[in-house]
Amino acid sequence: MNLLEKLEQGWQKLASNLDSKQQAERKLLEALQRDYAEEIGLAEALKKQSENVPYDHLRQKLLNIAEAEQRHAEMLREKIRELGGEVKARRLTGDSLSTLDLLKILEEEKEEYTEYLNARALAQEAEREDIRELLERIREEEVLHRKQLMDVLSRLNPLPIER
Ligand SMILES: [Fe+2]
Ligand SMILES: [Fe+2]
Repeated sequence: MNLLEKLEQGWQKLASNLDSKQQAERKLLEALQRDYAEEIGLAEALKKQSENVPYDHLRQKLLNIAEAEQRHAEMLREKIRELGGEVKARRLTGDSLSTLDLLKILEEEKEEYTEYLNARALAQEAEREDIRELLERIREEEVLHRKQLMDVLSRLNPLPIER
């Protein structure tokens, strides 16, 4: 292989690396936009559901989770803007999250956990360590939400729930 061919190969490699990084960044942006809409929807659903809870301390637990989801949404919004994207408060597909009952909210929390795992992998591919760290922090909080929600549910519902 002569020098020119070697140079050309080097450029091609560089270009394809840049390309895959850009692709990962685009996918990451889409994932963050999805997550943002879900956090907003969950926060709304939790606030709505808290109105039906007849015990102050349990109602407060739901409101605390709603506040955390709102915070997650705000942190995600910042990163979405950094990546040059816009935030959409509504999911493009599927039903509205804001009408979910507590059991469905619990399901959503479980799904969120997996989604943040995937988004975290995209952040790594896109070489965005700051976003990867943020997603990891949010994911850890989702684990707590799941436990807190199960706790509220088990106190509200005398029937044993699936764990
Ligand atoms: Fe969240
Ligand atoms: Fe959560």
